[in-house]
Amino acid sequence: MHTLAQLRAGQLAGIQRLQLSCGLTEFPPEIFDLADTLEILDLSDNALTTLPDDLPRLTRLRVIFCSANQFTVLPEVLGACPGLTMVGFKSNQIREVPAASLPPQLRWLILTDNQVEELPAAIGDCTQLQKLMLAGNRLRALPPQLAACTRLELVRIAANRLEELPDWLLGMPRLSWLAYAGNPFSEADQQAADAATSIAGITWERLQIGQKLGEGASGVIHQAALRQAEGERAIGDKEVAVKLFKGAVTSDGLPRCEMTAFVNSGDHPNLIPVLGEVLGHPDGVHGCVMPLIDPGFGNLAGPPSLESCTRDTYPAGKHFSVDELFGIAGGIVSAARHLHQRGIMHGDLYGHNILHCGRGRSLLGDFGAASLYAPDGPHAAALQRLEVRAFGLLLEELMERCNLPATTQASLAALQAQCVLADVGARPSLAEAERLINSLRA
Ligand SMILES: Nc1ncnc2c1ncn2[C@@H]1O[C@H](COP(=O)(O)OP(=O)(O)O)[C@@H](O)[C@H]1O
Ligand SMILES: [Mg+2]
Repeated sequence: MHTLAQLRAGQLAGIQRLQLSCGLTEFPPEIFDLADTLEILDLSDNALTTLPDDLPRLTRLRVIFCSANQFTVLPEVLGACPGLTMVGFKSNQIREVPAASLPPQLRWLILTDNQVEELPAAIGDCTQLQKLMLAGNRLRALPPQLAACTRLELVRIAANRLEELPDWLLGMPRLSWLAYAGNPFSEADQQAADAATSIAGITWERLQIGQKLGEGASGVIHQAALRQAEGERAIGDKEVAVKLFKGAVTSDGLPRCEMTAFVNSGDHPNLIPVLGEVLGHPDGVHGCVMPLIDPGFGNLAGPPSLESCTRDTYPAGKHFSVDELFGIAGGIVSAARHLHQRGIMHGDLYGHNILHCGRGRSLLGDFGAASLYAPDGPHAAALQRLEVRAFGLLLEELMERCNLPATTQASLAALQAQCVLADVGARPSLAEAERLINSLRA
């Protein structure tokens, strides 16, 4: 984080990344002094309503964040910045997205938690678009022109006012991570799932919160001790993990929908289980309680970077043994197949949502982007095949870091290629992928 004083004193000359959060109501003109080098501009958590018309003078600008400001319109000047690939305006009061506001090279657009009712047809001209985050808006429909954005891989449309899930969306050649819970069209499935299960309530007083274990886009996870309540059925006096949600709408959707999917996920050896829902948090924060996963388990991968956009990141030199690869791939394909049978698309099937022990045992968690569907309904097959691509990408990441015997390599590479086919319907099901992986493993 930088300060206005540093900027004004010329102390930031030569920087590529500027982060200012100090109650700004106007764009500080001194930022233009950094034009020769500035690539990433983060003005989140201020009180801005506009950007200057000469913003394109920042000729090297690739990334701009203006989250948690007071914009009501996505500034048109963004579209005049030819080098901009990422635009993040989460948690403003944006109602209007003018066609002119979309930069031609846009890869990653974040409008989470705004009041957008409609997207311009011109979004179809953003053919480089890979990641589109629109959760928590007022969208009633998506422009069909979006189908022209054939590089789209990750789409968040949860917590909107969509009346239907468009067929063209489910046929998009690279779509791999989709979240749509909390829309009118998904309400019936949500209610059916809520009726089918009940979740234990765990009062806040019974939890003694300890150290932070992890953090993602939607929540902070703490270790905690769960005390046994008197006169209530004992869940156990044990060490647990508590996920506390950061807000009413997360980048993936609503805590209520995450809870429903999590509770409906059922038992599977490769899924993180859920114990209950936090009740009575003093600030009304939503949360869920899980068994504490052995601290020997770590994240399989890091989340995407600004550069990798949709793909997870791994430490340089990361290597998986053959047993590890089959342990992870076999466990995760089985867990995801189990979810598909129950009408749950995970929506965020990524290495960064997998905990693994380093010897092949792996656990899939984080239902924040999960969406429900009727397993015998009209969209089931397409939704499942969409997530098969996410599994195919994970498999690719594992294979790139493993020395497999030649014949195994060839068979697995063939499966991997099928999982990511552009023709959604031609991909195998997870059940088929699981069978092949198990036969190669044997
Ligand atoms: N039950 C658990 N036990 C131990 N650590 C956990 C548990 N659940 C989550 N974590 C840690 O917290 C991180 C973030 O959890 P996740 O559910 O993915 O949150 P988010 O929705 O914010 O991405 C995980 O990657 C993991 O490191
Ligand atoms: Mg996560």
